Amino acid sequence: MAITRLDTYMLRNGVKIPQIGLGTFHLEDNEGESIIYSALKKGYRLLDTASMYGNEEQVGSAIERAERDGVVKREDVFVVTKIWRTEMGYDKAKDSVKKSLNHLGLDYIDLLLIHWPDESDEVNLDTWKLLEKMYKKGKVKAIGVSNFNKKQIRYLMEEAEVLPMVNQYQSYPSFSQEDLKLFCDQQGLVSMAYSPINRGQLEAFQLLERIGKRHGKTPAQVALRWSLQRGIIPIPKTSKIGRLDENLDLFDFELAYEEMEAIKKLDHE
Ligand SMILES: NC(=O)c1ccc[n+]([C@@H]2O[C@H](COP(=O)([O-])OP(=O)(O)OC[C@H]3O[C@@H](n4cnc5c(N)ncnc54)[C@H](OP(=O)(O)O)[C@@H]3O)[C@@H](O)[C@H]2O)c1
Repeated sequence: MAITRLDTYMLRNGVKIPQIGLGTFHLEDNEGESIIYSALKKGYRLLDTASMYGNEEQVGSAIERAERDGVVKREDVFVVTKIWRTEMGYDKAKDSVKKSLNHLGLDYIDLLLIHWPDESDEVNLDTWKLLEKMYKKGKVKAIGVSNFNKKQIRYLMEEAEVLPMVNQYQSYPSFSQEDLKLFCDQQGLVSMAYSPINRGQLEAFQLLERIGKRHGKTPAQVALRWSLQRGIIPIPKTSKIGRLDENLDLFDFELAYEEMEAIKKLDHE
């Protein structure tokens, strides 16, 4: 069945998450706020931020403005934020979430992630306990991890009361992380791809250019469509209005099985 812009995945707790979002790292100040607001106007419904990005205020302000202008309702926007490496451990994580809610100006966060695993499983678990607490209090609707490998996820799943619902990790053509994706699928975690267009560096991949020409699409659009068809939520970042459109214009073409496989093989080139 064809994928549409408004399709969602269902997390293990029944919460729905959009299939594509906007990455907001480096979208700062008024300019950043303006891009995020435009993204909402153009139909983006997931915003990915983090305490470390220092732009939660801009994300919150764009949502508030969009709400005021009748562009979206709060409940239609899915906000992801993260606890940074220096905020690990129950107490520091608690302060981090409090600050995030404050900066965002929101009553709840849709998805809260541990941004980066600590070397110690115990520290990850201690931090996870805070995520569980926030989840039970309704301050966050879903909880997950980022940059966790299989072993780190397994440990958490053995010890956790509330199982992680998402893993966000780097994935783009030539670095698919297919193995981790399959593991996450098997364990019931939805995958999110950061740097889905390799931070804008796709020139080296003539294959994407060739496939794109066949469909009348750019290499970035091919990379994003590949992510969508693999079942990984891409969160491309752009500071350019035109690219907001380009990165969302993915729903009027489909990559053939052979094209999907050919892109997968870039991992081994
Ligand atoms: N969990 C983590 O540890 C983690 C780590 C890194 C990133 N992230 C998240 O993932 C998001 C995306 O990752 P990313 O920023 O590393 O990389 P990305 O989205 O793959 O690439 C962004 C870069 O590509 C350019 N670009 C955007 N659209 C383009 C297009 N259609 N054609 C050509 N170039 C294009 C952008 O430049 P312009 O701005 O000039 O358009 C920017 O330099 C981040 O913003 C952040 O939210 C999470």
